[in-house]
Amino acid sequence: MNKLFNKFMRRVISFFANNDLAQELTGGVSGEMMITPGMPELIRAAGAEGCILLANNGVLPLDATTTVSVFGRVQRDYFYVGYGSGGDVRTPYQVNLIEGLRNNGKIKLNEDLAAIYEVWCSKNEADQGFWGHWPRYYPEMPLKEEVVKAAADRSDVAIIVIGRAAGEDRENVLKKGSYYLTDNEIKMLDLVTANFNKVIVIINSGNIIDMAWTEKYGDKLSSILFAWQGGMESGNAIADVLAGTVNPCGKLTDTIARRYEDYPSGAFFGNKEGNNYVEDIFVGYRYFETFAPNKVLYPFGFGLSYTTFKIACSDVSREKDEVILKVHVANTGNLPGKEIVQVYCSTPQGKLGKPAKVLVAFDKTELLSPGKSAEVMIKFNIKQLASYDDSGVTGKKSAYILEPGNYEILLGNSVRETIKVWELTIALDELEVISRGEGVMNSSLGVRGNAGALGGVTESLRAKGIPAVITTDGPAGIRVKKTCSLLPCGTLLACTWNTKLIQDIFHKVGEEMLDKGSDMILSPGMNIHRNPLCGRNFEYYSEDPLISGKIAAAAIIGIQHDGLSACPKHFACNNQETNRNYNDSRVSERALREIYLKGFEIVVKEANPQNIMTSYNKINGVWSHYSYELVTSVLRGEWGYQGNVITDWWMRYASSPEFPQIEGNAYRVRAQVDVLMPGGRTALSKNGKNDGTLLKTYGKKDGITLGEMQRVAANILKYVMNSSAMDR
Ligand code: GAL
Repeated sequence: MNKLFNKFMRRVISFFANNDLAQELTGGVSGEMMITPGMPELIRAAGAEGCILLANNGVLPLDATTTVSVFGRVQRDYFYVGYGSGGDVRTPYQVNLIEGLRNNGKIKLNEDLAAIYEVWCSKNEADQGFWGHWPRYYPEMPLKEEVVKAAADRSDVAIIVIGRAAGEDRENVLKKGSYYLTDNEIKMLDLVTANFNKVIVIINSGNIIDMAWTEKYGDKLSSILFAWQGGMESGNAIADVLAGTVNPCGKLTDTIARRYEDYPSGAFFGNKEGNNYVEDIFVGYRYFETFAPNKVLYPFGFGLSYTTFKIACSDVSREKDEVILKVHVANTGNLPGKEIVQVYCSTPQGKLGKPAKVLVAFDKTELLSPGKSAEVMIKFNIKQLASYDDSGVTGKKSAYILEPGNYEILLGNSVRETIKVWELTIALDELEVISRGEGVMNSSLGVRGNAGALGGVTESLRAKGIPAVITTDGPAGIRVKKTCSLLPCGTLLACTWNTKLIQDIFHKVGEEMLDKGSDMILSPGMNIHRNPLCGRNFEYYSEDPLISGKIAAAAIIGIQHDGLSACPKHFACNNQETNRNYNDSRVSERALREIYLKGFEIVVKEANPQNIMTSYNKINGVWSHYSYELVTSVLRGEWGYQGNVITDWWMRYASSPEFPQIEGNAYRVRAQVDVLMPGGRTALSKNGKNDGTLLKTYGKKDGITLGEMQRVAANILKYVMNSSAMDR
């Protein structure tokens, strides 16, 4: 085919007998046409596949018995490409529409009408203009009614072709002959639709132009084909589509709005000084599908075919951040064809605001015969669903954010024709979940008899590589359903005044922890023996803060090897058991500093505990697990504590006196008490579920901020990622 074509073209060139022209056309190799083998076929195929069939009442594809009358001078003076550097290619040849129809061989042409156009065009040569002043259109041949009637007498179908071009230094303008049709083009449409029952309109343009007139003519237009500019094979490509050699399978990559003014950029384009992109991200379908769907004439992703397809999602799976859709596409019509499967996402509005739908993936089937089907695997990454926060409204400025909420995955063959096939819930609440333990003691995630789990307490967190950390009691040995060494009580250990011995004993406790599956032991207990009646004095060490601190430090140093963690407790002033969850330790700042906090200060500075547990009680009216002053100002700010803070088990509900709308877990997180333990079934969380107090004020005035939640999450993760649980 190619060799025959080259031979024909050589004859054409030799016919001109003009060496310059021959040289020009052959790129300087005399007599040899410079055509890349296989390129004409590819260009022709693309020219056909990129055509958009906007409307068709069945007139297309033409059958071989049909005689076609072609109207519009662009049939001969065709726009193969736009202007400037993007189009100025020395083509070896170009096939216009009328030539393409002739070449096709399956379409009968009204050659009388073609001759009329040929003569007129040769007398009214299309002015090609010059740089920046190229023609946006060619003046249309004034059509006489008798010409149209004569054509109608000898042909069944009329084709009207309308052409436009723009380019570098040559915008389109809101005038007739550019964005709008000319009077002669409208007159042509009027005459032809008045005399033909079957009218096909072809738009040969590199830009979207006004298409509102298609509504005015309605079903007087049998078919509308937006053919763009098809390069050197233009005419052949369109003829392939009209004859049905190629089933049109192109889809719009732009929205065609009813009016220019409907485009959100409409009033903000063309200003010499500068243009404010006021529509921001809401370009094209992102605007129309969100705010003005009724202003759309032809939607993004739209394009008809000569056949029909059924698209169904047979499976959706997720592997880490990749989502895979298995899509079944069946040709349910009578002609072979290709379908373009499109995947959109409808994201939650969140704080950033989002378009109604965003394209996240697409694929095109191979040519499917009638009755045949294909499985198409379409993948996208969840990261594509994120939105960029350029204002910091989410608490994370200049970053892509996957805001919490439900992300609906939609499948279809245009932005308008979709069905929901999957839903992805992005948890912020993972920031909520990680700030709590799993919710129960004796977690099924660890050794029987454990005190509870924290860190990777949900499947989704564990899927991110965050392990569940298993906590166990206590100061006199590991409290689980397995046999473990029973140590002397705390006071006895302190009475040895032998820190080396204490360290050795708790190093062995660490070995037992590794053996039994404990990552964190809730020890040492180190509250001051303020009164001999306190029930838990046996767990604690002394009335003196120095010996308490030194013995506790030895225990912590002994325990913390191989990622194991101690958890000195109860921070602070837990010096009686009576009404322990509510009692208020009312104590001067001096006594706090010199006596009740001092031991904890020693262990923080000398033993670097990975975890610390707050106490049940209040201190001067504020529960320790809500005390910003105790946990952030003193522990972290003054002493430089870098570790994780957990509550004692089942703390009590309260709202913040400083920020009354902040309550419960938000009150706790604001104080930087990182983990609520065991995390559920408390006044704050019932039946293992969170009570919602953490996120209730998120994003509201004085509410909990993303940063505060991320801060505790960072404290937790820093510990967890260095813990023995990682190895397990
Ligand atoms: C609490 C106790 C803590 C810790 C926790 C987990 O009642 O005060 O020290 O042992 O139980 O069992």
